[in-house]
Amino acid sequence: MCGIFGYIGHQHALPILVEGLRRLEYRGYDSTGVAIDDGSHVQTHKTVGKVADLKAILPETVSGTRGIAHTRWATHGGVTQGNTHPHASTDGAIHLVHNGIIENYQHLRRGLSARGVDCVSETDSEVLVQMMALELQGGATPLESVQNTLQHLRGTWGLCILFRDHDLLICARNGSPLIIGQGQNETFVSSDPHPLTAHTQRVVYLDDGDVVVINRESFQIKTTKGLPVEPSITVLEDAWGEAELGDAPHYMYKEIYEQPDALRQCIGGRVDREMGTGRLGGMGLDHQTLVQAAHIHLLGCGTAAFAAEIGQMLIEKMGRIPATTHISSEFRNNDPVINPKSLYLAVSQSGETADTISALKEIKLKGGQVFGVVNVVGSTVARLCGRGVYIHSGPEQSVASTKAFTNMVAALTVFATQLGRTRHLSKADGRNLIRHLQQAPHLMETYFEDIGPIHEAVDLLCEADSVLFLGRGLSAPVAKEGALKLMELAYIPCLAYPAGEMKHGPIALLEEGSPVVVVAPNDHLKEKTMSALHECKARGAKIILIHEKGDPIGAEGDVSIAVPAIHPWLTPLLTVLPLQLMAYETALKLGRDVDRPRNLAKSVTVE
Ligand code: G6P
Repeated sequence: MCGIFGYIGHQHALPILVEGLRRLEYRGYDSTGVAIDDGSHVQTHKTVGKVADLKAILPETVSGTRGIAHTRWATHGGVTQGNTHPHASTDGAIHLVHNGIIENYQHLRRGLSARGVDCVSETDSEVLVQMMALELQGGATPLESVQNTLQHLRGTWGLCILFRDHDLLICARNGSPLIIGQGQNETFVSSDPHPLTAHTQRVVYLDDGDVVVINRESFQIKTTKGLPVEPSITVLEDAWGEAELGDAPHYMYKEIYEQPDALRQCIGGRVDREMGTGRLGGMGLDHQTLVQAAHIHLLGCGTAAFAAEIGQMLIEKMGRIPATTHISSEFRNNDPVINPKSLYLAVSQSGETADTISALKEIKLKGGQVFGVVNVVGSTVARLCGRGVYIHSGPEQSVASTKAFTNMVAALTVFATQLGRTRHLSKADGRNLIRHLQQAPHLMETYFEDIGPIHEAVDLLCEADSVLFLGRGLSAPVAKEGALKLMELAYIPCLAYPAGEMKHGPIALLEEGSPVVVVAPNDHLKEKTMSALHECKARGAKIILIHEKGDPIGAEGDVSIAVPAIHPWLTPLLTVLPLQLMAYETALKLGRDVDRPRNLAKSVTVE
């Protein structure tokens, strides 16, 4: 989603800003722009399209050591150059980039009109810069102009503001992430840590309500009301994994094939093979809390919600404790009943998904205990929860999530084992599960050595008007994840159903040649899944069957793809791999932008 990058220091700002934008590209955006103080005036360059398109229209060199930049994912107003950030006040004194949504912008816009200021864009963001300019004209300092304006706003914002006549930048955060990176006599501002790591390891994650004045040598944080805030410096650790593409054709390809190593990073040091249990130190859970937990609730959106559904089933299987998965956006708006004896897990790759953040704030407000299951270290979910488990997938840049999914499943498996061992799970069963979990990375590698007839499946999928995905038990969420991947990458309508529900509706769609993807690992539900497969076949469907190697059911698919056999509770870690590859290859064959599918964003920081 929208990305902010800002710079003030002693180097040429333009290349730093453009490189910052490039590193924010993965979040998803549709237009981009920069504003730089070149010493005599503020130059603005904007374009609809990619950062590469912006680069193409930039002058060869622009002197100037202070500037702001933005990638915009349209919310208010179409994808046009006029709506692209940075936005400037009519008098040109202020330039601003904004992430988030100003809910009362129409009211504010009418107020500006009444004072003779007409906005030239359709955005909610422009009202901010015009309001600040009026403050400045009325004698306010830059900081006062920001503070006074913020008091009138309802909504969310991450702001970076450049004042033509004052050698500083001002930032503010409320609900939209913003990080300050501190270098030697230079300061960087970014929406996420990726672009900062090229410049500095010393960062400050802003909190809601923070307003920051950044001068050339230092910065001061204040509350909206002007009270000083002591900055809390975080030193970014060298994260596992490369954020750059390297030799891979796409980020998604790279991330699919990184899954074995990512999984090793996730479970390393977190399992006790001898005792057959998990050891998630960051959860800070004592024995008593685990034993007394009344219910486990898991929250997430998109892929994270499907990983949560698998976690839910494993928690119930191993812990024999009720567990429920909630879509964050539904949970937060349905006036949820919070039980302080329950444990709540907020599952999120980015840790910045607005709906999940709102849900966890609601839980905390009502006295619930929330734990993060998060990839991005220091992200808002991680900091709000304070406790939890980092899934250690390394940077995930492709919009479609892959290695975060398998690591969320693995982290939740370790949690379920830990919970189970305090209750009903025997030592022998725990040890058996942990042994298989430790083998899973190797089994993923074994699968990647022979991925099976993915291309035959792709030939069927490319032609399809719609695709049905079926699975039961742990494979039902895997089917949902496979359908999501194919739909978001290839733009083919996909339905996912628990196999038993197929005959209660989706069967009506089947006709000669309709592709149906059936996920049928060798678990206790396989025979029932096969009944659904036969019912589809009888209506002329073409079956793409995901099964375990050596299982005779392989003969039942029109295209059969085998994955290595594993413990029945761990099958999602393997059965999802061919689904990811099928989505990737189908999208490629249809000429789609695999890493940046249309309209989607990696990090959905607005409602
Ligand atoms: C967006 C992304 C999905 C992701 C979902 C949740 O929709 O496109 O890939 O699964 O957000 O994101 P999170 O960062 O909370 O896991």
